[in-house]
Amino acid sequence: MQQLLRLLADGRFHSGEELGRALGISRSAVWKRLRTVSQQQFLKLHSVPGKGYRLEQPLSLLRREALEDQLGICCHVEECVDSTNAVALRHLAALRSDTPFVVLAEHQSEGRGRRGRVWISPYAQNLYLSYVLRVENAQYLQALSLAVGVAVLRTLEPYGMHGIGLKWPNDILVNSSKLAGILLELTGDPADVCHVVIGIGINANLMEASNINQAWTSIQRETLRLIDRNELAVRLVKNLERLLGVHIEHGFPAHHAEWEEKHLWQGRDVRLMSGASEVLGRVIGVTPDGALRLDVDGSEQTFSGGELTLRLQ
Ligand code: BTN
Repeated sequence: MQQLLRLLADGRFHSGEELGRALGISRSAVWKRLRTVSQQQFLKLHSVPGKGYRLEQPLSLLRREALEDQLGICCHVEECVDSTNAVALRHLAALRSDTPFVVLAEHQSEGRGRRGRVWISPYAQNLYLSYVLRVENAQYLQALSLAVGVAVLRTLEPYGMHGIGLKWPNDILVNSSKLAGILLELTGDPADVCHVVIGIGINANLMEASNINQAWTSIQRETLRLIDRNELAVRLVKNLERLLGVHIEHGFPAHHAEWEEKHLWQGRDVRLMSGASEVLGRVIGVTPDGALRLDVDGSEQTFSGGELTLRLQ
């Protein structure tokens, strides 16, 4: 798959013969492969007799050297992986990389979402990035995932999308459609030394997908511009490092006001679900350690935990 898509990444026409020669397969095998890949990866393909095939728009492929030059840390840039978080955890287990380091991939076959969900990760369209950090003080982990949301939002705001904001605990939405998600995974002993893998998925150039079972959007859908994924990755990691620098000194209280200001559901009536049980209330905000504050029948209650789902009433 990768080889074929790399040949077509420039968005120009390539004849079946040329593609077949490069891959060592027949012209009809090229067509079959292209049809499958374009469907699986949600890529629009044009086929014009006498000219060949072209992708509707070029692919913004990741460039490891450019990323490392600009970020100054080790960037593991992969083609197809199960999950960048899983790759990062494997690097840690094998003591293969100094921290901090980043793992990026063009495609994830088993991208991990919150609450056991799959994060749909078509080839070269969105950003799939895991940033790995060594943590020596468990305090640092408090509300870290909410703080990361602030860094992701700061990265996305300059693209000028109307209605962009946060949704507790760490979704980035445009109005009510999901634009980006965050999944933190820990390894080691939080009471001693541990590592945190900060997994971030941003829908960048995705224009259609049939198997995402929630309302979603992408930067390109909102702005109608082709997004340079290397530039997006650099801006994201720089914002993340800036925010983590403040977080290590001052913790979440340093980002608390900004978080609440950018919370799309601040003051809204919501339904908070955990398995079969649910609570109805109005959002007051979040506590300094990142728990959700709800006004439930006139009295304040706080909620935290990865298994909670928040919906508007
Ligand atoms: C969510 O469900 O909102 C969290 C989605 C997190 C997806 C990112 S993509 C990069 C990293 N690798 C994964 O497998 N998941 C995270």
